Amino acid sequence: MKSYGLNELREMFLRFFETKEHLRLPSFSLIPQDDASLLLINSGMAPMKPYFKGDKEPPRHRICTCQKCIRTGDIENIGKTARHGTYFEMLGNFSFGDYFKHEAIAWSWEFLTSPEWVGLDPERLYPSVYEKDDEAFNIWRDEIGIPERRITRLGKEDNFWEHGSGPCGPCSEIYFDRGEEYGCGKPDCAPGCDCDRYMEVWNNVFSQFDNDGNGNYSDLIQKNIDTGMGLERLAVVCQGVDSLFDVDTVMNITHKVSEITGAHYGDSHKTDVSLRVITDHIRASVMMISDGILPSNEGRGYVLRRLLRRAARHGKLLGVNEPFLYQVVDIVVHENECQYPELREKQAYITRVIRTEEENFA
Ligand code: SER
Repeated sequence: MKSYGLNELREMFLRFFETKEHLRLPSFSLIPQDDASLLLINSGMAPMKPYFKGDKEPPRHRICTCQKCIRTGDIENIGKTARHGTYFEMLGNFSFGDYFKHEAIAWSWEFLTSPEWVGLDPERLYPSVYEKDDEAFNIWRDEIGIPERRITRLGKEDNFWEHGSGPCGPCSEIYFDRGEEYGCGKPDCAPGCDCDRYMEVWNNVFSQFDNDGNGNYSDLIQKNIDTGMGLERLAVVCQGVDSLFDVDTVMNITHKVSEITGAHYGDSHKTDVSLRVITDHIRASVMMISDGILPSNEGRGYVLRRLLRRAARHGKLLGVNEPFLYQVVDIVVHENECQYPELREKQAYITRVIRTEEENFA
């Protein structure tokens, strides 16, 4: 397996789906448009709900994107586990009433395992399906050739994707076995276990229902595909590193935070958690401000304020009492500008917003 940089992997994914006739679109803003159910965009599919529902005609029925996402539900876990982050990028290929399970499964496998693309060892990949989805199970077994014992059936909690209201459906995930050393050691440790051994990299959602927000499901007028693969997670697997924070572009930011704070990554668990929290929160904050969010006491602005305060608090734990986060902006821009060139144009503004906020709560 060849090791690829995060920026290379993003480009590879988008190029792969262009060869499958997908239209590549840039990331949508983190601010949802016409969607009161979400504070912040949390997945690749979220900005495209009207295409899934057939309310709006998409520019093409096959689209691929790399979407900026924020999820703060697990904020207390950030820095403590290998795979939680508030800000991440989600790679996705989408079908709006075009292809369905057969193609989506075959292409996810081809991208991950073909030596022409990512070239992961197929022996370390484990698909899962929704427990009642025999069709997906059979595709994995009969068309892809995965032995039955390696396909896990999981319940609604793991393999039925929905986020509040909107398009949803059963899903089929692909887990990567990172090795026993990452496991919990329990005899029943398997894909779906909470520990860090089996890392979910790809989620194929067979988006065919609409949830009205109260748990009532109706059929969408068309069958869709909504896939999501965390770019940072894919990079963890390809780079053979321990966590999201050890991925090339993210680690470069942590190094800068270490330099400014004088704390060394690897010195102690406590220091590492603080460095990771700062790294995660500053990445999220830069992207949010770039998309037009300002710190405030409500809604999205409050999420941003909270992230900046948590980052500053972890700075204090490392012994830094002066504003310092604003000095990290440059490296965040540097690591991301090939995909988001607007960051460089807005750098001075983003730096100012962060510095002012830090001064205000100092
Ligand atoms: N919507 C699904 C997810 O976020 C797949 O894109 O995992």
